Amino acid sequence: MLPSFLLLLSSLGTGLVQAQPTLDDLYLENAPSSPRPYVIPHYANSHAVTIDSQLYRFTVTGPSSGYAFTLMSTNAPSSGSLGVLPHIHRVHYENFFSFKGRFQLWAQKGDSEQQARLLTQGDYGSVPRNTTHTFQILDPDTEMVGVIVPGGFEDLFYALGTNYTSGTDTPYVPQSTNDSSTTGPGASTISALQKYDVYAELDFNPRRDLVNGTAPSDASEWHSGANDLGTPGQPYFIANGYGPKYLNSQHGYQIVQPLVSPKQAQDTNYTLATFSISRQTKQNPTQWVLAGAAAFEVLEGVLSIQIGDYPVAQLNMGDVAFIPAHVAFTYYSEVSFTKVLYVSSGTGGVDQQLISGGKTWDFVAFPKY
Ligand SMILES: *[C@@H]1O[C@H](CO)[C@@H](O)[C@H](O)[C@H]1NC(C)=O
Ligand SMILES: *[C@@H]1O[C@H](CO)[C@@H](O)[C@H](O)[C@H]1NC(C)=O
Ligand SMILES: *[C@@H]1O[C@H](CO)[C@@H](O)[C@H](O)[C@H]1NC(C)=O
Ligand SMILES: *[C@@H]1O[C@H](CO)[C@@H](O)[C@H](O)[C@H]1NC(C)=O
Ligand SMILES: *[C@@H]1O[C@H](CO)[C@@H](O)[C@H](O)[C@H]1NC(C)=O
Repeated sequence: MLPSFLLLLSSLGTGLVQAQPTLDDLYLENAPSSPRPYVIPHYANSHAVTIDSQLYRFTVTGPSSGYAFTLMSTNAPSSGSLGVLPHIHRVHYENFFSFKGRFQLWAQKGDSEQQARLLTQGDYGSVPRNTTHTFQILDPDTEMVGVIVPGGFEDLFYALGTNYTSGTDTPYVPQSTNDSSTTGPGASTISALQKYDVYAELDFNPRRDLVNGTAPSDASEWHSGANDLGTPGQPYFIANGYGPKYLNSQHGYQIVQPLVSPKQAQDTNYTLATFSISRQTKQNPTQWVLAGAAAFEVLEGVLSIQIGDYPVAQLNMGDVAFIPAHVAFTYYSEVSFTKVLYVSSGTGGVDQQLISGGKTWDFVAFPKY
């Protein structure tokens, strides 16, 4: 072996010495214009725009993911009216996740019965292509997380919104709201947005006959029994902890709760899941190298993640990490219980691999030993 100073000299000679990247290089304020590893802390600017009282942030964008997916959040005060007029997307599959607070989500595909649910923290609603949908924010401290596939849908919000900056990273701008009209674009504007894959469905009449958080109330379990992943192409809803669960014990306990599997995604070619990660994952973390881009958003606890040549980052609740295709990464928890939302481009992501290496499991908690 060469003495290390000789190695250093010889690599200096070839001009290949590069400073080891630091955490400062990994952490960004805004999603970058092409794929690279990065972390965006909760409430960082993230290309934020306001639309009336709603504040939208885009932590993974079309450009930052190679157009694989968009990951976004919406913080807004409670409202007496819809957050957007009813519409469909022909090309984009949209996913709604309650990070905190409460919102109501309506979805209807073709002639199927109109569905409505009240989503509280950790609940999920799936809106496949060509599904009429709308939402309404119901609590003052609400954050909706959205995953939209393929990436690039944020261009709609850039076009409609007003760029936002803040010295305090406040969740949204406090202001008196006027509930007498729908938030967001009016009927004529929303009807002119087809170039952004928004097709107005102004005849849609959101039902208000929810009982115990759901309508219809007779044919749907909601926080009362199991929720399955839905029929492909149809909207479906999974209450927090009531969906399918898998326990993986290969590298410390992890519970995978799939929200979109390859079957539901059809040709949109992605998957979505939550992982509940035990502290034992730290002992021997798996190194992952995936064919598609991936992102993590922390829902609870602290996620440790090491991406490419960057040092280990400690992500807190609401922080997002993005990993481009073919870049090696490991992740684990140093605290007792960490839960993340995981987005995979392609169907060979960590979620599917943990499921195939695990077993079905009936609980949101991992075993005692
Ligand atoms: C708003 O921000 C985007 C980047 O997020 C930028 O491309 C655009 O030029 C900005 N618009 C204005 C009016 O500042
Ligand atoms: C969505 O609807 C449009 C217009 O009817 C149709 O061309 C397209 O094939 C549909 N997409 C899917 C995935 O069903
Ligand atoms: C609220 O909006 C309605 C209808 O646009 C308008 O008539 C009313 O003056 C507004 N109120 C306030 C306080 O802005
Ligand atoms: C609503 O929930 C209450 C309390 O669990 C229950 O008694 C009632 O039957 C539910 N109503 C319907 C329509 O399911
Ligand atoms: C699905 O996504 C993966 C990862 O991005 C990619 O390698 C694969 O080619 C895609 N498959 C199709 C059919 O688009």
